[in-house]
Amino acid sequence: MSISSRDIPFIKKVPVSLVTIRQARLFDIPEIMRVEHSSFREKYPRGLFLMFLENNPETFLVAEYTGKVIGYVMGYLRPDLEGHVMSIAVDPLYRGNGIGRALMIAVIDKLIRLGARYVGLEVRVSNERAIKLYEKLGFKKVKRVHKYYSDGEDAYYMVLNASEWGKES
Ligand SMILES: CC(C)(COP(=O)(O)OP(=O)(O)OC[C@H]1O[C@@H](n2cnc3c(N)ncnc32)[C@H](O)[C@@H]1OP(=O)(O)O)[C@@H](O)C(=O)NCCC(=O)NCCS
Repeated sequence: MSISSRDIPFIKKVPVSLVTIRQARLFDIPEIMRVEHSSFREKYPRGLFLMFLENNPETFLVAEYTGKVIGYVMGYLRPDLEGHVMSIAVDPLYRGNGIGRALMIAVIDKLIRLGARYVGLEVRVSNERAIKLYEKLGFKKVKRVHKYYSDGEDAYYMVLNASEWGKES
């Protein structure tokens, strides 16, 4: 379950042009975990981030602003050539600045350049904000996955076809 930005009193306005999107490094893991802890109630263990970084260095990206990690996205390419977005989060203080969108564009571009025919992801049916972000990028709801999450909530499985990429604003 994600934490709503309505819980956060102050949102920082940041021009997205001053945010750098780059590959994650080992030394970023504590900052990535800080963002993750402020974004999700169910947290991934540190070992999972380390293993993911080792296996998918090109598609584990961070957003850096004034030397600080304020967002991350984890993508990977499956053997069946599905690019999959496993997780994305932006520090609650910096949301609504276009950083989530910039991270998604960067990881989708990378996955497609690595050979993905399409990009898929799961999202909680209640996560309207994320769903809106994905739909604006061209993702479509393909199916509803019953009780996908451990608390019993359903997920939408959403897909973006590589052939459609770049056609939507
Ligand atoms: C989802 C998330 C990554 C979006 O990051 P963000 O940096 O705030 O997103 P952006 O500023 O790039 O916004 C992109 C789009 O999201 C939607 N959006 C952003 N803020 C919104 C808000 N307050 N209400 C509704 N939709 C909103 C809009 O469609 C927006 O596009 P627009 O600016 O053209 O209208 C961020 O909210 C987050 O970290 N949430 C918690 C973790 C999470 O739920 N991750 C997704 C798991 S599947």
